[in-house]
Amino acid sequence: MADRSVRTAPLIVAIDGPSGSGKSTVARLLARRLGVPVLDTGAMYRAIGLKVLACGVSPDDREAVIAISESADLELRPSAYGVAVVLDGEPVAERIRTPAVTEATSRVATYPEVRRRLVELQRGCAARLGAVVEGRDIGTRVFPDTRHKFFLEARAQVRAERRHLELLARGQEVGFAEVLSDIERRDARDSERQDSPLRRDASYVVIDTSELTAAEAVERMVEVIRNREES
Ligand code: C5P
Repeated sequence: MADRSVRTAPLIVAIDGPSGSGKSTVARLLARRLGVPVLDTGAMYRAIGLKVLACGVSPDDREAVIAISESADLELRPSAYGVAVVLDGEPVAERIRTPAVTEATSRVATYPEVRRRLVELQRGCAARLGAVVEGRDIGTRVFPDTRHKFFLEARAQVRAERRHLELLARGQEVGFAEVLSDIERRDARDSERQDSPLRRDASYVVIDTSELTAAEAVERMVEVIRNREES
């Protein structure tokens, strides 16, 4: 790996992919290996979804959602784990991980006005520090010029199993069939929206994590990054 002390530009690694493809775990481990923070952009969209529900607004009420997202006090604060998303002075933490917030988030994320502000914050944060940035549009929209783009995917059944286990571990009783259909609905919405849909092109390295552990996926990514940094 190139000597980070002589790098001229911050190291930006983009990780995109559908829900349950392993992005969060892999991004966290990779960031630790590379010595840069991790930025979970989904948490930022979730913060807006949370605020919309807390205000009693329907995610389909476009004008009201845009007003909330423009006035929301949203901050990215460096923390021990990477970058914490802070909403109205409080880290969003677990409050953003409920099924209701998840569903509202994928709806509010379709509005270009909501996305524009969050993309600016993401660029400002990662361009300064360098980061592993994970989301849906990181390599296509947020940092299209980075050399390091990964697209994680996995079979829908495997992705739903991971999400199901995660929800059960958080004490949220929900059936597998419901998790699978939620994931499929959300992926369709993320892939079919007009602004910044989930999409990959030839600039991505695709990794199917269906049969890989997170550590194995990270090893592959480190190898790719090392080769590119040294070339
Ligand atoms: O990654 P996570 O599941 O937390 O993301 C929640 C939702 O936020 C996604 O389903 C998607 O609608 C939205 N999102 C997005 N663009 C990103 C990250 C997340 O539209 N870069």
